[in-house]
Amino acid sequence: MLYICTNCQQTSPTKLGKCYNCQEWNTFEEKKDEKVVKIFKNTKLHKLSDIKHDNQKRIKTGIKELDRVLGDGLIMGSSILMGGEPGIGKSTLALQLSQKLSINHSVMYISAEESLSQIKSRSERLQISSNNLFILDDKELNQIFVHTEELKPEIIVVDSIHTLDSENTDTIPGSISQVRSITHSLTDYCKKKGLILILICHITKDGVIAGPKTLEHLVDTVLYFDHIDSDDLRLLRTTKNRYGPTNEIGIFKMESKGLLEINDSEEIFISKENDNSFGTSITTTIEGSRSILVEVQSLVSQPLQSYGKRFSNGIEINRLMMLVAIIEKFTRNKLSDKDVFINISQGLKIKETAIDMAILASLISSLKNIQISSDIVFLGEVGLNGEFKNISKMEKRISELNRLGFKNCALPSKFQNDSKNLPLKDIKFIFLKNIFELETFLGDKI
Ligand code: TYD
Ligand code: MG
Repeated sequence: MLYICTNCQQTSPTKLGKCYNCQEWNTFEEKKDEKVVKIFKNTKLHKLSDIKHDNQKRIKTGIKELDRVLGDGLIMGSSILMGGEPGIGKSTLALQLSQKLSINHSVMYISAEESLSQIKSRSERLQISSNNLFILDDKELNQIFVHTEELKPEIIVVDSIHTLDSENTDTIPGSISQVRSITHSLTDYCKKKGLILILICHITKDGVIAGPKTLEHLVDTVLYFDHIDSDDLRLLRTTKNRYGPTNEIGIFKMESKGLLEINDSEEIFISKENDNSFGTSITTTIEGSRSILVEVQSLVSQPLQSYGKRFSNGIEINRLMMLVAIIEKFTRNKLSDKDVFINISQGLKIKETAIDMAILASLISSLKNIQISSDIVFLGEVGLNGEFKNISKMEKRISELNRLGFKNCALPSKFQNDSKNLPLKDIKFIFLKNIFELETFLGDKI
């Protein structure tokens, strides 16, 4: 008899508690003899040119931020995995979503994790009710199929996949292999019947993984729910999508009556109280197809020790050191004997170099006590010679600024020609060649 680790396929003649290869516990199962299968032809080949494109029907969830990350709604027959840490709001979103979908479709919500009365009290808190939303508090797979055959729902929500059980498999309840086999049975069933399957899945605090990573290839779309520093803000990210773009984000806020969608980033990432203060500048960053408005704050102060230190929250410290060096080299300002602090609003982490100009503006503003009007946005990357360079998706960023009613936008001079094609009238462009022009502009005009 041979045993095999279901995690890494390591074999062993005895059943081990811990796999010495991948270090996982309780993953050894008896290796079944390979069946001898008689092969005969029951499928056929298709020429690519002969295949007809079947128009996949999409249904909107009624939650814009969710539709955005899904790629404009849910596709019939598709399966979606939604992962996130315990307590982040998966069940809340799943219930809100189920209620919205149940307005026009029948929905079966399988709650293997919470009792009926817990769900009822959550629904009362969320102030939702529906005649077309059916709750099943069973966790056995065959029972789920029996109810599905009887109810014939269009959408099935499972909260959560870890808690389901199956009499058909002899794997250990809750083990990775069982979760995988149940997910496989469910996705297969829903695909054949053309049902939408939404699976909720936990991930642990340190980001792993026991569950979701091993399930990702079984589903069409993977969404991850994430905190950003602020306690009640949530980001929903697409990391895989067979039917739409990846790297989209949806923004939500957890309130006392559930998750509230945030359609305008201005509402949360720009602090209205800080109007015209020193060291504050505004810029945009692109996440997926979305342009998000971001506030950069800096503080340049006398050093705590005999030499100046740099502290960064939201951009890489090396980038900050480079920007500080550029200011020292190309302007008459001295920063080596100052402490420099940078903070990006709401704990956002930004890797884009498109926010360089805004960071430089905010540093100069704090250093020289110059106020920057909250009506101006800075867009541009800086090169090592202090020159401003064009950035990607400029049109998208500017049209979003225009929509939000910003009146002034500082841009690299290199964008001047392209800007003539933009059909925007209400926004004034200020073209800046390099950091020297930026400093003059801040000193002169604001
Ligand atoms: P929940 O959806 O149960 O998280 P998960 O399913 O990811 O474990 O949400 C849990 C947290 O959200 C809990 O701490 C209470 C809070 N919450 C609110 O703040 N407002 C609400 O309306 C609801 C339903 C929950
Ligand atoms: Mg939950």
